[in-house]
Amino acid sequence: MPQKIIILDFGSQTTQLIGRRVRELDTFCEILPYNKYPVGDADVIGVILSGSPFSVHDPDAFQVDLSQFVGRVPVLGICYGAQYMAHRGGGLVEKAGSREYGRALLTSVDTTNPLLRGIERGSQVWMSHGDTITALPAGCHAIASTADVRFAAYASDTAPLWAVQFHPEVFHSLQGTQLLRNFVVDICGSRQQWSAASFVETTVEQLRQQLGQDRVILGLSGGVDSSVCAVLLNRAIGDRLTCIFVDHGMLRKDEFSKVMAAYQGLGLNVRGVDASERFFAHLAGVTDPEQKRKIIGRDFVEVFNAEAAKITDARWLAQGTIYPDRIESLNITGKVIKSHHNVGGLPKEMHLQLCEPLQWLFKDEVRRVGRELGMPERLIKRHPFPGPGLAVRILGDITPERVRILQEADDIYIEAMLHYRCPDGEMLYDKVWQAGAILLADVRSVGVMGDERTYEHPVALRAVTSTDAMTADWAHLPYDFLARVSNDIINKVRGVNRVCYDISSKPPATIEWE
Ligand code: XMP
Repeated sequence: MPQKIIILDFGSQTTQLIGRRVRELDTFCEILPYNKYPVGDADVIGVILSGSPFSVHDPDAFQVDLSQFVGRVPVLGICYGAQYMAHRGGGLVEKAGSREYGRALLTSVDTTNPLLRGIERGSQVWMSHGDTITALPAGCHAIASTADVRFAAYASDTAPLWAVQFHPEVFHSLQGTQLLRNFVVDICGSRQQWSAASFVETTVEQLRQQLGQDRVILGLSGGVDSSVCAVLLNRAIGDRLTCIFVDHGMLRKDEFSKVMAAYQGLGLNVRGVDASERFFAHLAGVTDPEQKRKIIGRDFVEVFNAEAAKITDARWLAQGTIYPDRIESLNITGKVIKSHHNVGGLPKEMHLQLCEPLQWLFKDEVRRVGRELGMPERLIKRHPFPGPGLAVRILGDITPERVRILQEADDIYIEAMLHYRCPDGEMLYDKVWQAGAILLADVRSVGVMGDERTYEHPVALRAVTSTDAMTADWAHLPYDFLARVSNDIINKVRGVNRVCYDISSKPPATIEWE
């Protein structure tokens, strides 16, 4: 196994970000709940303690047995992690006079300390805490301060232990990456061997060992994760991988045929199943979004299973599960609020084992692996698309005609985005996390076209920027782009006479309308 950094999660919103930063240093890391340190794991080269919504004085604050790792491997405490180690070590943590939140500048920095090598005096850091350390434990000394925070960073004289009360993982700590590099590479001794190329090489080898001559089934969605998973497995076991791609009729315009062609071009053994009639029949007259989701979910499993059952000698089901899908996130009570999902409704008699080769990767790493595997850039950069597809973007009941209207409008919008070059040379599509059109199928408004009065549906356009879909901001699309798309949709799509742009962020809105 590779060297790894363990990040113990005390419930901070930025814990995943710490993980991503460590991976960007070509170093493998695992994010684990604060009380699940892997005692005895010889591959651990360092530990990072995350922030937390708690104060160390809260009766419910998360506690960890520091002796499991302090003094054994280098440790870096961040925010709560720093305060917790100070508190447990005999220092003092008190309510800050004023909440220390936002940008601050380092007024003194001990650059002879290996953690702070290369960090400049005046460097901007990001603070976010209500408590502050007012006295350090014996044997620790300050190595950086800001105007308001005397112990912005400290180090131990007796153990390989460092701590910062600011957040080096966030973008606003301008030299945060340097600090993390100092810790991960110089202090912990990472050999920085975690890369897309090494991942592909070792994973292909492992898959060959694990799967032997067995046959594997994989459900393709057209999205990045399942596609990269398929190409990786194909590299390992070739035609013993059978992919199934179900068309539920709610895909984007021509998507089924285009994606099938792309998959075949990649050399995948893929079976396309057009089940759209069945889905349309079961969705007729249904307006409730949860009901739509349930019907689509149920039918999807049934169609997939029927197809999978034809591959009688299959032993494995592969899934494109990625790391953020698996990280157990904690809520304020310390309970796990998200645990690993289960495979939905596969018949037991199929006796399939689960194979999830991307389970350690973040989204950006999946994309790098896709590139390493030679997949086309357009497939790698595809926006996320919900499993129930356009069904959750038609407000009202679903008919083939309504899907057609939305497909046309959506196609004009997305094609325009794919071809719009921004002043910095990047395509607009690549600046946006996700975009799509929504049909307000039960709403009509008056318009005028030529000499005719129209009474047709509005289409809403949605585009958001995000890093993980948990939060999102509406994308500030250029006016000339919006103007052209609006014009094209109203002129070309029969049934639509008005276009709106959704300027809601998440929260409080969501990305999808339903
Ligand atoms: P919301 O609407 O919750 O969406 O802000 C967050 C992200 O999840 C996608 N999404 C779904 N994906 N099945 C999926 O596979 C679904 O039912 C579903 N609902 C939302 C959404 O497109 C966005 O990327």
